[in-house]
Amino acid sequence: MTDTGAAQRPHAAAPGCPAHAGAVPLAGLEYQQAPSQLYRTLRRENGTVAPVLLDGDIPAWLVLGYSEVSYVTAHDELFARDSRRWNQWENIPADWPLLPFVGYQPSVLFTEGAEHQRRAGVITEALEGVDQFELGRDCEQIADRLITSFAGSGQAELMSAYAHALAMRAAVQMCGMPHAGTDTQQLVDDLRISLDGAGDDDDPVAAYARVGERIQQLVKEKREKPGPDVTSRMLLHPAGLTDEEVIQDLISVIAAAQQPTANWICNTLRLLLTDERFALNVSGGRLSVGEALNEVLWLDTPTQNFIGRWAVRDTQLGGRQIQAGDCLVLGLAAANTDPQIWPEGHVGAENAAHLSFSNGEHRCPYPAPLLADVIARTAVETLLERLPDLVLAVEPQELTWRPSVWMRGLTALPVQFTPVVR
Ligand code: HEM
Repeated sequence: MTDTGAAQRPHAAAPGCPAHAGAVPLAGLEYQQAPSQLYRTLRRENGTVAPVLLDGDIPAWLVLGYSEVSYVTAHDELFARDSRRWNQWENIPADWPLLPFVGYQPSVLFTEGAEHQRRAGVITEALEGVDQFELGRDCEQIADRLITSFAGSGQAELMSAYAHALAMRAAVQMCGMPHAGTDTQQLVDDLRISLDGAGDDDDPVAAYARVGERIQQLVKEKREKPGPDVTSRMLLHPAGLTDEEVIQDLISVIAAAQQPTANWICNTLRLLLTDERFALNVSGGRLSVGEALNEVLWLDTPTQNFIGRWAVRDTQLGGRQIQAGDCLVLGLAAANTDPQIWPEGHVGAENAAHLSFSNGEHRCPYPAPLLADVIARTAVETLLERLPDLVLAVEPQELTWRPSVWMRGLTALPVQFTPVVR
């Protein structure tokens, strides 16, 4: 995945898999910078389900069609979540960079049927206990403090100094963890490494283990002294989850909350700063922050791909023969821009029927999308209120995207503004 020189050259064939002749790697610099072009090419050449190669040339199917993603996610009996079904495990090394969120863990992410309902039900009820007004107020305070830390300098790198930091502080605050200090930054770094794959000095598997250790400590603290937070509500829920189950599910909650929400904030700021329909410096007539947030979910969605589902038995999808144990990557970004749902070529942002929060049993659990909206909206609005003449500090084409098959987000968002002393 971090082999940025690989570009999108087709591979002759994935080992032992004739169906994957001509498969294209979901990696490389071109993919990283403009994945939508690759999705278009794949759709033109393969239809709605394309053979692709994950890191290390491991074959998988990328589901590109809106109705195919909807179908796969709605049919757990055919396409299930437990990755132990994968027919590729013998080809996967112990340090495979995608392992942290693809390797089976006994968490809500990989459970199925009644057990999934039990675990997801606890998360839903624990999240329902979050007061959205309080969350908005907390986010405003977090945003204010972060902005104050750089407002006097007239410049900032918003990805790390703002979007990632704010989304993590909001997530850990909901879960009852104090968010001052180095802990939060370490968690941000470790989650990013777990999802981006191996860089020169980064080990995704070790980074994921560090996240687990920190959450384990949080669960121990909350068992001894519960509070009005998501962690305590999960521990005290009548479903009686064990500490190990709560640890596993909290890692999923915190990772699922922090990473996409941070990228939602930044992708929205990028849109606002680069698209003249949202021209920030023109006081009248600009489209609203709400419209920008929604447009990003259609066109630059934070979780561009989700790995995934595993075929329970031999079946067909999009005209392809899928073998039992094959891996399907949910192409959420590709599905949102499927020409079948935009026959006139214009991808609109008028409604919320995108697949950015997925679909079916394992979709992002209610009320998480509402909480993410409160966090992202407050982050963007507070920044624009405090720094109204904010502009990009580089040309838009100089912005670079992180090398993640999962996430669509910038590596950095440098901005400048009139210094403010308060
Ligand atoms: C407060 C913020 C959020 C929380 C607490 C949260 C929580 C979760 C959890 C616990 C899951 C696992 C569900 C399961 O397997 O049953 C999940 C899945 C998911 N979430 Fe979220 N999430 C948040 C924000 C977001 C955002 C902003 C996006 C993207 C715009 C997003 C997209 C997804 C997707 C695509 C899945 C995968 C569903 C699948 O397997 O089909 N989430 N989320």
